[in-house]
Amino acid sequence: MFHQLDAKLQLFDFFALGYPAIFGASLGGAVVSSGSAEFGAGDSVVASTPTYFWRDNRYGTFQRCALVRASNAIKVTGEGYNVLDAVTIPTQAGIAALALGQVAGLERPIPGVAKKEGTIVVWGAGSTVGTYAVQYASQADYTVIATANLSSPAEEERVKSLGVSHVINYRLPAQETVDALKGYGPFTAILDAAAQPSSLGPLSTLLLATQPDASKRVIHSMGPDGQNVTDDSVTVRYTSFAKLGFGAKSDGTREEGGASDKWLKGLWGHGGWLRRGVNEKSVVAQKADVTEGVLEKVQECLDKVIKAKGSQVVLKLV
Ligand SMILES: NC(=O)c1ccc[n+]([C@@H]2O[C@H](COP(=O)([O-])OP(=O)(O)OC[C@H]3O[C@@H](n4cnc5c(N)ncnc54)[C@H](OP(=O)(O)O)[C@@H]3O)[C@@H](O)[C@H]2O)c1
Repeated sequence: MFHQLDAKLQLFDFFALGYPAIFGASLGGAVVSSGSAEFGAGDSVVASTPTYFWRDNRYGTFQRCALVRASNAIKVTGEGYNVLDAVTIPTQAGIAALALGQVAGLERPIPGVAKKEGTIVVWGAGSTVGTYAVQYASQADYTVIATANLSSPAEEERVKSLGVSHVINYRLPAQETVDALKGYGPFTAILDAAAQPSSLGPLSTLLLATQPDASKRVIHSMGPDGQNVTDDSVTVRYTSFAKLGFGAKSDGTREEGGASDKWLKGLWGHGGWLRRGVNEKSVVAQKADVTEGVLEKVQECLDKVIKAKGSQVVLKLV
């Protein structure tokens, strides 16, 4: 599967990967052999891999056989999604859950647990991460308010069907979007799932209007830049998949056995939200744009992912 990151790394080389580098960080397929008792040869899996963050080509997914960590893999069983439909779940639903659950401190979605007090804003429910974030928060039984592009009426229906109470059009003039959101505050957590320069400005204005306690003026963001924040009292907290999902440190080395490992087990492991999402279809999977072919099609898919918006590009190797 192809992410914007794959295409941007090829175009801009901002991670300074060594040459030759094998790209790709998400996959689905059949296990050839396994050192983990949980997986055996022939099992179908979907997984995220730390290839860029550990700078280790064995984990690059754009090759015939790639290495995956058992802790970031999900066995795909007969009752749930097939591999193609589930392939966006480990990475994009994984980062949405880490941002809301581990960083923002929301309680986990556990079936049958009583309703939570609190309202969550997800800015950008049209993105894949946003699609999964609204489901994480609504399945944990919080009230969820989202922004989306409402130029098509079908989008409002789609977002509401994921458990969102109110959907606001982020394409209105910024102050109108803020005014429409304001009445639902104060908010337990705000997630910027689009991470575009145009989202942090209105979100910081919203926090100033709804959160009197300056220490709680926090926006959780998928992107590292805090640009366009309108006030010094607003903090933008970036969730790094590299760090929380793989224990990667900035120098390319890694830290295993840290606090996040236990959290990962509760997400990818038995009974975890991601695993249930794949095998019980309890999460609505984001649609994928599938190209069929051989590895030579990788470049075509990298070019496509730059243009693709909101749908995920997948190469089905035949
Ligand atoms: N921190 C991490 O480790 C990590 C991991 C994965 C992804 N990310 C980041 O998370 C973001 C989303 O990734 P993704 O894979 O979910 O992307 P995606 O599926 O390609 O979503 C892009 C969609 O976001 C919506 N959007 C664009 N600008 C927006 C804005 N200003 N306000 C609201 N929505 C907007 C658009 O949909 P509509 O036109 O339908 O609104 C667009 O089609 C990206 O910035 C990505 O780099 C971060």
